[in-house]
Amino acid sequence: MTEKKKYYISTPIYYPSANLHVGHTYCTVMADAMARYKRATGYDVMFLTGADEHGQKIQTLAEAKGVTPQEYVDEVVEGIKDLWKTMEISYDDFIRTTEPRHVKRVQQIFMKMYEKGDIYKGEYEGLYCTPCESFWTESQLVDGCCPDCGRPVQKAKEEAYFFKISKYQDRLIELLSGDEFLQPASRRNEMLGFINQGLDDLCISRTSFDWGIPVPIDDKHVIYVWLDALTNYITALGYPDEPEKYEKYWPVNVHLVGKEIVRFHSIIWPAILMSIDEPLPQKVLGHGWLLMGDSGKISKSKANKGVDVIDPVVLIDRYGVDALKYFLLREYTFGQDGHFNNEVMLKRLNFDLANDLGNLVSRTVSMIEKYNDGIIPDAKIEDEFDKDLKKIAIGAADKVDAQMDKFAFNMALEEIWVVIRRANKYIDEKMPWVLAKDEAQKDNLDTCLHNLAEALRIVSILINPFMHTTAGKIRKQLGIALYDIVWEDASEFNMLCQEKVKKGDAIFPRLDIEKELEELAELAGGPKEEPMVYKDDIEFDDFDKVDLRVAKVLECEKHPNADKLLVFQLQVGTERRQIISGVAKDFKPEELIGKNVIIVANLKPRKLRGLESQGMILYAENGEHLALVSTEAENGNSVN
Ligand code: ME8
Repeated sequence: MTEKKKYYISTPIYYPSANLHVGHTYCTVMADAMARYKRATGYDVMFLTGADEHGQKIQTLAEAKGVTPQEYVDEVVEGIKDLWKTMEISYDDFIRTTEPRHVKRVQQIFMKMYEKGDIYKGEYEGLYCTPCESFWTESQLVDGCCPDCGRPVQKAKEEAYFFKISKYQDRLIELLSGDEFLQPASRRNEMLGFINQGLDDLCISRTSFDWGIPVPIDDKHVIYVWLDALTNYITALGYPDEPEKYEKYWPVNVHLVGKEIVRFHSIIWPAILMSIDEPLPQKVLGHGWLLMGDSGKISKSKANKGVDVIDPVVLIDRYGVDALKYFLLREYTFGQDGHFNNEVMLKRLNFDLANDLGNLVSRTVSMIEKYNDGIIPDAKIEDEFDKDLKKIAIGAADKVDAQMDKFAFNMALEEIWVVIRRANKYIDEKMPWVLAKDEAQKDNLDTCLHNLAEALRIVSILINPFMHTTAGKIRKQLGIALYDIVWEDASEFNMLCQEKVKKGDAIFPRLDIEKELEELAELAGGPKEEPMVYKDDIEFDDFDKVDLRVAKVLECEKHPNADKLLVFQLQVGTERRQIISGVAKDFKPEELIGKNVIIVANLKPRKLRGLESQGMILYAENGEHLALVSTEAENGNSVN
């Protein structure tokens, strides 16, 4: 047997600073579809994803939460892995940059570069935010201030190690001038322009925080994020100390990344590989962003600022994994930005999934049950309609292949939907319910039912890389095995032979779009945390002047001259007092008798509508009403 060809694909390793949103899901779903497609078409696939766990930001977030950075990332990464499990992401390895296998290998790579003379110690100069202990570049600032806390930054210097990336400038220009390495092509000129401006040596260590991999020769320093992060693509394969997998899968066929990190992958990463004399990636593919309404790119930092960020789990809970995968892969054109819009999504789910595919499955299976006792009949004749359906169905696989070669997931799905729509039209053309009434048309009816089942069998193979649960459901209803999906069988017709179909639930229920839109809007607008607004600070001495006491309500009645006021008679230790509060709309007087309340005992007495009030009772706001601030302590006691 000849050895299978290898195919290695990666996603970025995501920052576990917060839960992932639908943007990350988009990239991972594309990589998963490609990995599944390549496996289906005979490749030995390595699909890598993971988490990029070091850095100042994680350290700061952990401190704010009162946990260690490791505890912080452990929790978020568990959530990421759960998400990928729910989404049936078929990765072969998940690398975490805090794992010992990565840490030791990054240090080995650092030493290789150092020994080659490509790393030297110098001084890093940047814009520093003291409270956040972070360096920023000019372009990262927001209105000239720290993008995290909004406070002013100062120029500052720190000792750091640098990578002589400029040494590889000519080789990088040559690499980026080729057609294959970086796509989409529009990015190439941008990257070349960037290199042609002259590459500054790259700062690869920090001393201002310690959540990172120690520099092996100088443990005051930690390795700064990109050297740590980018090398994951080879440390996960065992490079350099356990090279077996590395030798099998490297160089990577495709690094799939969002457009904002194309620069790191197409300039810094190849330069690191040049420094350690290893082969370069075959391709870096930059995908576009999912944008939301007017608020631009969906991003985690926006979630922190209260902007709605689409949570894939909400969508999966409502519509299922395959519906979300289908929408992400079908709606957006690879390489371009796209707007995420609930209405567009719901319409696609209804039209493409519930109507086109769902109806084809349920009509086909129902008719086979009704007209042939649930047995898929053999084909007997062939008219023009039969020929056309067959031609389109068996020709689809090649078309899908051609689109997948270009990462055109949306067009690959469109090719499959050509078959689905053709099959639906075929039902209308052949009208099996009419054929069923005429015994002389039995062969024609059998052929029709057979061909519909064949078309669905082919569809189940072709959609398998994109929506494999749905592929399984279709096959189950057709009575054919789930496990032996063979890509080549999508180019064959007449493979079914007397299988017994079994009608199941609708594979995609129809959605009430109006209702869904309302509910999604409600979910997105759900409880948003409003920042607390406090009155101006006071000195402790000022607070200490307030004498708070426990008092028991002896009597309570309406003020004779004011509807809004209640008059309280209170016991405060051995003393009796009268206090008037404007709470008549919140309480019935008799409810309050016997309660222990807290009063400000040393507020100067004042007259309210003719009666003296000797202090003030405390209440807490509770929605539109007030609640009593009550206590079980003895009356007369002070409250501190
Ligand atoms: O950049 N639309 O991690 P990250 C589409 N750790 N894709 C989006 C997106 C959006 N709105 N938002 C995020 C990092 N993505 C580094 C990577 S790799 C060695 C280190 C996707 O958590 C997109 O693929 O910020 C983007 O490149 C990636 O998430 C960034 O994830």
